Amino acid sequence: MAYTDVLVLGSGIAGLSFALKVAQKRPDLSICILTKANKNETNTKYAQGGIAAVMNTLTDTFDAHISDTLKSGKGFCDTGVVEMVVNKAPRRLLEMIEWGASFDKTPNGDWDLGLEGGHSQSRILHHKDKTGYEIERALLKKLEAYKNIYFFTHHFAIDLLVQNESCVGVKYYNKKLGMIENLYSGTIYLATGGSGQIFETTTNPVIATGDGVAMAHRAGAEVKDLHFIQFHPTALFLKKENPAFLISEAVRGAGAKLVNKAGARFVFDYHPAGELATRDVVSNAIFSELQKSGETCVYLDCTHLETEAFIAHFPTIKERCRQAGIDVFSDLIPVTPAAHYQCGGIAVNRNAQTSLKNLYANGECAHTGLHGANRLASNSLLEALVFAHEAAKEVINEKEIGEQKISLHPASESSMIPDTLPGDLAEYVKLKGRLQSLMQHYYLGKQGGTNRQVELKNKITTLAEEIEILYQIKDFHISLCELRNLATISLLIIKDAPSS
Ligand code: FAD
Ligand code: SIN
Repeated sequence: MAYTDVLVLGSGIAGLSFALKVAQKRPDLSICILTKANKNETNTKYAQGGIAAVMNTLTDTFDAHISDTLKSGKGFCDTGVVEMVVNKAPRRLLEMIEWGASFDKTPNGDWDLGLEGGHSQSRILHHKDKTGYEIERALLKKLEAYKNIYFFTHHFAIDLLVQNESCVGVKYYNKKLGMIENLYSGTIYLATGGSGQIFETTTNPVIATGDGVAMAHRAGAEVKDLHFIQFHPTALFLKKENPAFLISEAVRGAGAKLVNKAGARFVFDYHPAGELATRDVVSNAIFSELQKSGETCVYLDCTHLETEAFIAHFPTIKERCRQAGIDVFSDLIPVTPAAHYQCGGIAVNRNAQTSLKNLYANGECAHTGLHGANRLASNSLLEALVFAHEAAKEVINEKEIGEQKISLHPASESSMIPDTLPGDLAEYVKLKGRLQSLMQHYYLGKQGGTNRQVELKNKITTLAEEIEILYQIKDFHISLCELRNLATISLLIIKDAPSS
């Protein structure tokens, strides 16, 4: 029987920072990290804007960060959790720096703190416009030194194993062998990220299929507030691009304006903070504007921004726009809102423990109470770091001497069975498209207050039932399993949503 002392599912910031902390303090414990793709293929890798923290107490206060987070969450945050995360933020950031992550500084040697929507102060630490990439790089590098970390890429977790109301391991698919196997553990930590792929337009990579939340729900763990989905206002509008490339909120923080086709600035018509209002406000302003005009996108105007400063802070965005034929210094950037973040998730306490014994959850798959109805920009990476620390403390202090038995077959990428859909399974691609389209219409309808919600809910429910039946009768396939998970999360979203 394959057994590991600690089992981590997911290799984004939530998974890696937890694994690192446990590995450092408990060399006697074996720690397995399973991930369904390459090591660094995560939402974390694509994070642009950065991490929010009060790093300059001459210009900023903890109370202001707390107040901004609570306002953004619209009355649905857990105030105690908000205080805990904000107060612990600087320590966690300094630790991330000790681990090797580099964040930009001004010529004076101060932190170059960015500004984003909903923040009353510039407080976003960043590495140009690829903060997540830098974090993944630093964490993966740091982990290499620890002999008690065992990495298994291309191992797809299918379901949690539950015995006597405790989580005891995971059933997974080994892509190298094409086999389903079990891995047992006394401590299972879910860090499987979000579910943006439920929607037609999303900034999330294709791995974001809500697997962890769906697995935890099937295993009987409590999940919460899945209907709080955040759409980011400014994804680059290129037809049928999945995922849609993000144009960071920090670009608006640096002074970019949102304009309609007529070239008129419009967000101030909806909120006095204009382009720097919280994401829900700016996205809804864009939706309203598009509904009025019948257009498909609005535009981000960066043409007045200082060229050198833009290139220094946003090289990736400038380059991606150039590839799309857009010169950010002379053209307007077409943008539209896109599904970005799952504010709800698996309910956890302040140590990231779920309602199921032995099961922890952290990162975008978890509901800690920090975000409420609408996450404040750049609070997600922060949440993952703070809760990884709290969970690790618990495991480090509570766990008995490790047993260390591991007998998995490492997946080599060269010998992997390709993840293509044989024959009739291509039908599932269509089903995924249908689900994404229904969910997109459902979400947009909710914002616009249309009365098609009941009809859409019925269609989504019927489609989810169809998908579940296919899953039960067909041979196992990852794409089908992901589709089933997307359907599960869709049902949780429409179930939770207040009726309009
Ligand atoms: P992820 O980083 O998504 O990692 C999930 C891991 O789980 C992956 O390794 C994946 O392979 C694995 N996994 C999933 N399912 C399975 C399975 N079934 N079996 C095995 N492994 C599985 N937040 C900020 O705070 N600041 C930002 O600037 C910012 N910018 C963003 C920009 C973009 C484009 C996007 C998409 C998000 C951004 N966010 C930002 C949000 C933030 O990046 C994510 O919320 C955060 O990185 C989530 O981290 P995580 O560790 O929970 O999950
Ligand atoms: C961005 O850079 O706009 C994304 C920040 C976030 O999701 O918090």
